[in-house]
Amino acid sequence: MPDDQIVSSRRLLVPVKGIPLPDHIAEGFDAVSAFCPHPSDVLISSYPKSGTTWTQEIVDLLLHNGDAERCRRASIIKRHPFLEVSSHLFKESGLALLKEMDPPRVIKTHLPFQLVPDGFWENKCKTIYVARNAKDTVVSYHYFHQMNQTSPAPGPWEGYIQKFMRGQLGYGSWYDHVKGYWEEREKKNILYVFYEDMKENPRREVERLMKYLDLSLSDDVISRIVELTAFMTMKENPMVNYTFLPKTVFDQSISSFMRKGDVGDWKNHFTPEQSAEFDEDYKKKMKQVHIPFRTQL
Ligand code: A3P
Repeated sequence: MPDDQIVSSRRLLVPVKGIPLPDHIAEGFDAVSAFCPHPSDVLISSYPKSGTTWTQEIVDLLLHNGDAERCRRASIIKRHPFLEVSSHLFKESGLALLKEMDPPRVIKTHLPFQLVPDGFWENKCKTIYVARNAKDTVVSYHYFHQMNQTSPAPGPWEGYIQKFMRGQLGYGSWYDHVKGYWEEREKKNILYVFYEDMKENPRREVERLMKYLDLSLSDDVISRIVELTAFMTMKENPMVNYTFLPKTVFDQSISSFMRKGDVGDWKNHFTPEQSAEFDEDYKKKMKQVHIPFRTQL
């Protein structure tokens, strides 16, 4: 089926163990839970809009010694299966793609810690968790929900912030998501990466990822990876900018997938009142744990 024939429509969210997930993902969830990875598989996890694609591209380049051509072998959704995605959204479900690939595979998920199939922990798979400050995440998610024709319509910004604070958007509470992986990171050997750290010093974070993956690449290759994964370069790369999906799925005339790529864009969207209310609520939800998020650099 050519890509432009993928039919899609705005979907509903259905709770799975209390977490609202797109209905097509909720329907196939039992099979996802039963998935058993190979110990050599690598999981990249995040709350949506936290820099997942960016991290995926860095990891792919690291695993291919910075070879840009090899990393253009296929779109990012084919190179790194999206674990829970069903064939309603992409032509092949994540599980179908995984079946066709030999380990070691890089697998993407947005599932909160408690919904990740147990096999990942039983097999001690390397897991990279990417986190981004809540304010920039909610702004990015709002734009994404406008252009993503398969997600529930986001509605106006004011109501959207409230839904984010109440954990009513797809994949549930951002607060619980980031805390869930944070609390398990040592026991499960999860590498916790911050979007803001990648913006501040991409080379340092590429090297952290490299070491975690037990790789040792030359300085030149690391420099090349940093260049190839700069925002403007990725924005122009058709294998990562999601222009490979038809307008019926992602309508990028509304907003680009590679939209702004900044830290602190929330300041252009939150009113002072919204910011104060959000901060107050944030303090309550995050008081048990200190995760060093930064909302500006
Ligand atoms: P914005 O909407 O704020 O621009 P995900 O891949 O998890 O869906 O995250 C998407 C967000 O990461 C978008 O944020 C996107 O622009 C940003 N992003 C993608 N690649 C990036 C890069 N190389 N550098 C900085 N930000 C990037």
